[in-house]
Amino acid sequence: MNVLLIGSGGREHALAWSFSKSPALSKLYIAPGNAGMNMLAECIDLDTTDHDAVIQFCKLKAVSFVVVGPEAPLVDGLVDSLSKADIKAFGPTAAAAQLEGSKAFTKQMCQRAGVPTAKYGHFSTQEDAKQYIRQVGVPIVIKADGLAAGKGVFIAMDMEQAMAAVEQCFDGAFGEAGAEVVIEEFLEGEEASFFVLSDGENILPLATAQDHKRAYDGDQGPNTGGMGAYSPAPVMTTSLTQQVIDEIIKPTISDMKAQGMPFKGVLYAGLMITSEGPKLIEYNVRFGDPECQVLMMRLKSDLLPLLLASTEETLNEVEAEWYSEPAITVVMAAKGYPGTYEKGTKISGLDTVIGDEATQVFHAGTKSNGGHLLSNGGRVLNITSRGKTVTQARDLAYKAIDQINWPEGFYRKDIAWRAIEREQA
Ligand code: AMP
Ligand code: GLY
Repeated sequence: MNVLLIGSGGREHALAWSFSKSPALSKLYIAPGNAGMNMLAECIDLDTTDHDAVIQFCKLKAVSFVVVGPEAPLVDGLVDSLSKADIKAFGPTAAAAQLEGSKAFTKQMCQRAGVPTAKYGHFSTQEDAKQYIRQVGVPIVIKADGLAAGKGVFIAMDMEQAMAAVEQCFDGAFGEAGAEVVIEEFLEGEEASFFVLSDGENILPLATAQDHKRAYDGDQGPNTGGMGAYSPAPVMTTSLTQQVIDEIIKPTISDMKAQGMPFKGVLYAGLMITSEGPKLIEYNVRFGDPECQVLMMRLKSDLLPLLLASTEETLNEVEAEWYSEPAITVVMAAKGYPGTYEKGTKISGLDTVIGDEATQVFHAGTKSNGGHLLSNGGRVLNITSRGKTVTQARDLAYKAIDQINWPEGFYRKDIAWRAIEREQA
């Protein structure tokens, strides 16, 4: 089977690495890919916002399955366009992708389906939003309604911060995404992520993970797309996972089907484990980045048939096998990220890191130039290891990092600290 994978991040490199191990794969194309994926696939220059161009490419190259990595093309309806052209595509339709594309949509779904989540209000004017905050008080969470690349969420601890956040949303800091805001109760607890595949009706639970959103050690500094992750999330016991499936995932899948927009693809639940039980913070309609990297490191089964089963509505016929050992990924980012940073800086030493079943380096923002590897983005490399314990996995990953020479890069030195504290307690 010829497959086209869409995306260019560490997530897509991890997916490509998994695909490359599949006996079902004939040829893998990636649009646009990066310097790391170049070694596994043919990276192509294709404007994925031009759906006709993607369809033409698939026809020309006999691509029979398209896997969409990031959320933007899903929200934009790429899967709808491909399906109409009779090309199988993994991921939700634009309608179902509203679970990530609109926070208000998800809140309404939660209300209909009885999914536990933070109490909220939804506003389209600044005055109404402020009025609501004055009524309910602080701490409070203010979110731009639409896609804001993970940046449209403010946790306000006092009134002044809350008012400033509302003003920033309505003043156009997030463009269209901030034209409406969701304001919700501040939830206290430990966060965890849970990933399942769905085919619109059946679900196949994948795995749990935790990530580190803040840029610097000690979970300090600005929010980022994620500076590291590990799987499984120790807080997600078997019984808690079952509770999440029963109270959050299944009601969502049933409700989406009943609404005439069955959810197919990977559903990524961002959860807060509160004293009252697990509550949904948000849904994403794709694999997490960098969570996908640790999931792929732990997946024993062939990924390709699992994704196909989601698209072909046969998830009830497949099973996924996992390594019980934990995996960790550490992100190396360009100095300055998530603010301004330099591109095109030289990275060396990667060839001395032995890529094996225990350690893999997944590229994100990289490109090659004249035989040199150069940085080409904010998050650049994902050093990913699996070990008998989280401590061992962590030691393997940091040992690999020691071999990489990139003076313009930085990374967190405390990834998985919470899991390691638990392990050593
Ligand atoms: P989101 O983009 O909705 O995942 O929010 C980004 C981050 O903000 C989450 O991962 C949480 O750490 C935090 N967050 C979002 N909503 C809440 C909430 N209601 N209570 C506490 N923290 C929240
Ligand atoms: N790592 C968070 C995300 O992929 O949304």
